[in-house]
Amino acid sequence: MRLYTRTAGSGLPLVLLHAFPLSSAMWLAQRGGLAAGCQVVTPDLRGFGGSQLGDDEPSLDAMADDVAELLDGLGVERAVVGGLSMGGYVVMALARRHPERLAGVILANTKAAPDTPEAAANRETVARRLLDGGDLLDTVPNLLGPTSLERRGMVVGRVRGLVGAAPAQAAAWAQRAMAARPDSFDTLRGLTVPALVIAGDEDKITPTAEAEAMTKAIPDARLVVIGHAGHLSAIETPETFNRAVASFLTDLS
Ligand code: MLT
Repeated sequence: MRLYTRTAGSGLPLVLLHAFPLSSAMWLAQRGGLAAGCQVVTPDLRGFGGSQLGDDEPSLDAMADDVAELLDGLGVERAVVGGLSMGGYVVMALARRHPERLAGVILANTKAAPDTPEAAANRETVARRLLDGGDLLDTVPNLLGPTSLERRGMVVGRVRGLVGAAPAQAAAWAQRAMAARPDSFDTLRGLTVPALVIAGDEDKITPTAEAEAMTKAIPDARLVVIGHAGHLSAIETPETFNRAVASFLTDLS
């Protein structure tokens, strides 16, 4: 699967994987703010943005293999790979399947625990609703923290636009892929590269406790909790998010 990819800058490759149900468009401020120090590579995961869905069964492993193929195509042996929420699940799948491709990992607003049976069943309900013509706009208030909802009108409008653009087939496929994901704590315990874990103190979907648990499991990890940020910290508080990433990259190199 060839992923449509937006890139900016040059130097150390930094691959950033987007959240559900967004696209590489969510990393606009990271392409702008981080490109002076590295090569920012932001693909559309399969089915989203400009990438085809293909006909594989839903699986995060397939998404992780797509990212490894992307690195092959770019001639990149090892990269720092980061992901926000669903993107973080793909980073953990990549760490399981292609650990030799990682120079460092960034896990933002994500979790290592699998779905409970109730959460997995709810994803199937959402998938069916999407395939029946439903949309995901009712999820926007959960994606953003109260500070963004009350004071960052541009962010709210932008996220509504991104969520509204999500193709139903891809969103349903991704819900089923996420429902099937395994527990990733052993993967984190086995990481041999440094990690940056990012949380938002207003995140209603992945509370800070999830980030703390991941940080504890990873042998070499640092945790940054961003204030006044919800689930989409990279969009809600881009300067703070970028500072955390830039400082991580400086310490890596
Ligand atoms: C995301 O933002 O990618 C989703 O909240 C992930 C999920 O549904 O678990």
